[in-house]
Amino acid sequence: MNLIHLQQISRRYQMGGETVHALREVSLEIQRGEYVAIMGPSGSGKSSLLNIIGMLDDASEGEYYFLDKGVHTLKEKQRSQLYKQYIGFVFQAYHLIDELTVYENIETPLIYQNVKSSERQAMVADILDRFQIVGKKGLFPTQLSGGQQQLVGIARATAKRAPLMM
Ligand SMILES: Nc1ncnc2c1ncn2[C@@H]1O[C@H](COP(=O)(O)OP(=O)(O)O)[C@@H](O)[C@H]1O
Ligand SMILES: [Mg+2]
Repeated sequence: MNLIHLQQISRRYQMGGETVHALREVSLEIQRGEYVAIMGPSGSGKSSLLNIIGMLDDASEGEYYFLDKGVHTLKEKQRSQLYKQYIGFVFQAYHLIDELTVYENIETPLIYQNVKSSERQAMVADILDRFQIVGKKGLFPTQLSGGQQQLVGIARATAKRAPLMM
């Protein structure tokens, strides 16, 4: 079973009267345990592709299978269930929750995954330790540097131990 299988995925954006073709019939397969780098010049469609694979956006055309489930056939709610369960996404612009501490930001996805409280505590403690940010756990995102916020974003995505980290 492939982790990811894209079949002829296209993504078009409407800009006023113009149509921008960000992706044209992209097909690819990624197995569990594989490391994949997507490279290309600015504007070549990398973010468009990552947003579709990460289930943050829909393709205009084509089929997307995640662990053999047809993501293109799912409703919003089912798709967000899959996202919560299986995907750790590191956002370029961090997207930490400003009202939550570092600790709580890392813990939040685990709550959505229905991880038990005691297990959650152990997982967050482990991640704080591995990322060497134990001393920052009570701080809010605005009290951190950009680099530290990025680190917390990566820690949050990692804590989920998701089969797809991106
Ligand atoms: N929301 C959007 N609306 C209109 N055009 C977009 C949008 N997002 C991306 N594009 C266009 O799609 C193309 C690919 O963009 P993008 O996927 O962000 O590329 P990359 O991440 O490789 O720099 C670009 O021409 C960009 O202008
Ligand atoms: Mg980009």
